[in-house]
Amino acid sequence: MALAIMCSGGDAPGMNPAIKKFVDYALHKGQEAYLIYDGLEGLIDGKIKKATHKDVAGIVHFGGTIIRSSRSKRFFEYEYREKAYNNIKQSSIKGIIVLGGDGSFRAMQRFSSEFDINFVGIPSTIDNDIYGTEYCLGVDTCLNVIRDALDKIRDTASSFNRAFLIEVMGRDCGYLAVASAMVSGAEICIIPELEFNKEKMEAKLVKEIAEGRNYALAIISEGAKKTTEIHQWMEEKLGLETRVSILGHIQRGGNPTFYDRMMAFDFTIAAVDYLLSHNDSNKVVVFNKGEFSFIEIDDVVQNKYELPKHFIDAVNYLD
Ligand code: F6P
Repeated sequence: MALAIMCSGGDAPGMNPAIKKFVDYALHKGQEAYLIYDGLEGLIDGKIKKATHKDVAGIVHFGGTIIRSSRSKRFFEYEYREKAYNNIKQSSIKGIIVLGGDGSFRAMQRFSSEFDINFVGIPSTIDNDIYGTEYCLGVDTCLNVIRDALDKIRDTASSFNRAFLIEVMGRDCGYLAVASAMVSGAEICIIPELEFNKEKMEAKLVKEIAEGRNYALAIISEGAKKTTEIHQWMEEKLGLETRVSILGHIQRGGNPTFYDRMMAFDFTIAAVDYLLSHNDSNKVVVFNKGEFSFIEIDDVVQNKYELPKHFIDAVNYLD
């Protein structure tokens, strides 16, 4: 059977180990392995190549994706989805693994409702915002990049009687911000999911500053869309000189951690095995309580990921 793999949307560390495992495992199973380059854009343009072990040698430790990714505007139009489908048929591809996030899965849901395709999605996004799974590929590496940045910022903040407001990615989801606040001892954490109680925090920090606190770290999720407002508030109400640091795209890069390589391995084996034993799958592999399972793409795109309760509690413990 000819199987293919592609990346779609924002790249995530762990995609390369997944691509390597896909080719090696598909060939081990006696199947043909195809690489689709440039995501959905490449699928439309027929950038599909039959792979050998050599194509994926020496990539396991690299961040990003050697087959590249894209966010495709053209794929919103039926004529291009039809073109993509014809390319799949022409290459005799019988199953596709899609490494992607929410937007990519929405695109695949639409695609699979119109055409007879067989695919399994592997949740791959630093945002960790996909319904139905506790973990998305790339999150651990991203959190380690943020942790490293926060440790370094703390060094300079504490040496200078200064506060820092650090904006992290996550799109509309506060996962990265809370997880980072939990392990870095940040004093403030602001996420889109929770109302931030400025008055309460102000009373607490002003008292601590009067008692000798000389710096503070605040983490804000990009989705809160309040970075300028909170910066102003910190300078005016806390009376600490405050610098803003927007971590940006460094959060998407870096060599995949041990955990992301292991997860890439397991997600991919599960996805290939599923495709080999089903010919009508429109599923996403999910990981919960240490186990992999499969859920319908419709469920994934029709529901919204919610932060686990202990994450919400962790933010509440701060004030
Ligand atoms: O979804 C991953 C992500 O990095 C988000 O955290 C962020 O909001 C977005 O992608 C940035 O997108 P782009 O790379 O297109 O600027």
